Amino acid sequence: MTTYSAPSTLTPILTRGWGEDRSWTLESYRSRGGYEGLARANTMTAAEIIDVVKAAGLRGRGGAGFPTGLKWSFLPPDDGLPRYLVVNSDESEPGACKDVPLLMANPHALVEGVIIGSRALNCHHAFVYLRGEVPHAYRRLLSAIKEAEDAGLLGGLRITAHAGAGAYICGEETALLDSLEGHRGHPRLKPPFPAAEGLYARPTAVNNVETISQVPEIFRESAEWYASMGTEKSKGHGIFSLSGHVAHPGQFEAPFGITMREILDMAGGIRPGHHLKFWTPGGSSSPIFTEAELDVPLDYESVVGAGSMLGTRSLQVFDETTSVVRVVTRWVEFYQHESCGKCTPCREGTYWLKQILLRLERGQGLPGDVDLLEEIAGNIAGRSFCALGDAAATPVRSGIAKFRDEFEAGLTTPARELFPYEASANY
Ligand code: NAI
Ligand code: SF4
Repeated sequence: MTTYSAPSTLTPILTRGWGEDRSWTLESYRSRGGYEGLARANTMTAAEIIDVVKAAGLRGRGGAGFPTGLKWSFLPPDDGLPRYLVVNSDESEPGACKDVPLLMANPHALVEGVIIGSRALNCHHAFVYLRGEVPHAYRRLLSAIKEAEDAGLLGGLRITAHAGAGAYICGEETALLDSLEGHRGHPRLKPPFPAAEGLYARPTAVNNVETISQVPEIFRESAEWYASMGTEKSKGHGIFSLSGHVAHPGQFEAPFGITMREILDMAGGIRPGHHLKFWTPGGSSSPIFTEAELDVPLDYESVVGAGSMLGTRSLQVFDETTSVVRVVTRWVEFYQHESCGKCTPCREGTYWLKQILLRLERGQGLPGDVDLLEEIAGNIAGRSFCALGDAAATPVRSGIAKFRDEFEAGLTTPARELFPYEASANY
């Protein structure tokens, strides 16, 4: 039996107080220093606020890791017409589970961050776009906005929370803006980037929930304090969501540069009696890793250097009972279902990937199927209109690169015969 000891090398900042009674209320948030950052930011000019965020080295937590202060500084000078801050809370990458728990336990961190961000951008109306499937997070955010408004903290800022209808593509920032405007969510051509032409064709900063929620602590403490965590280029800390065949799945908040081995140790290791087969550093759209990459520092640069990407820090763990073919098939089915259909490589390619994978999963593959999968995936990646196409091709290519034998076995043997003990798989 594995013994579980409480994590000791974590940096509970956003996750601080999650276990407290009614941690989501204004009273509880204030007892943890909430809204002290806003008080400090209120003494600064917009340009000074942006400089602090730049000095902290905060990078976007939605997956791309784009520098937040730089993104804010891309908005053109204020011309007196509307400009917007839009928070992307449409978390839906398979394996990602950080923004919803954050909103549930600590929604005032987001509200305070939105107020500070709006001051930096000279914006008077901010939006938070949430997944429609999580009405509990939507309700919690609404009550936090109301509490902040009643306490006079918004200072004239209007914050609109908008629940989407559950389309994965609406997490892509320009499709999100289309959806917010009332259109069908389709990605727009970039450039122009939203910073120049976003919501209602006005300058708009689109930032992830966790990114904005980190802003208050930077002002409450200091940019230097924040920048002292993490690595040289990936500064600060983030929430890593750990799921799958581990003893204690959950959210682990730690500085960038921590390794998967350390996180697994804190989570009590792989479930008892089993061993690691493969894992994802950044959800299903990141190339898979195996035991060989357990000591790769989890920062943006090191993970790319090791052949994958950090993305949303969604650590999905699979033990030896798992069929790689089956996992890749489920992921591709998801992407095929969520493809918006705007461009041919993704719309048609994901359909064909799915058909071939399904017959390999059933043990009814045709000669040449594995090469065909690689060819189709190669024609989707880099040729699609948005990142969803690349995401769909990635697990196929990396699955075959690391476990080709299992795909070849699908020509004759069903996955359920090769991996009969997979019933408790969690993906
Ligand atoms: P991107 O690299 O194209 O852009 C990142 C951000 O920087 C965007 O806000 C973009 O507008 C801005 N930007 C980039 N260059 C700019 C310029 N020259 N001027 C002004 N702004 C500029 O990445 P993208 O497509 O926004 O996101 C891809 C990431 O999303 C992936 O790495 C993946 O990890 C992540 N992802 C997250 C999901 C989730 O559920 N959180 C779901 C699927 C993917
Ligand atoms: Fe739509 Fe897929 Fe093309 Fe993106 S890559 S625009 S999701 S069809």
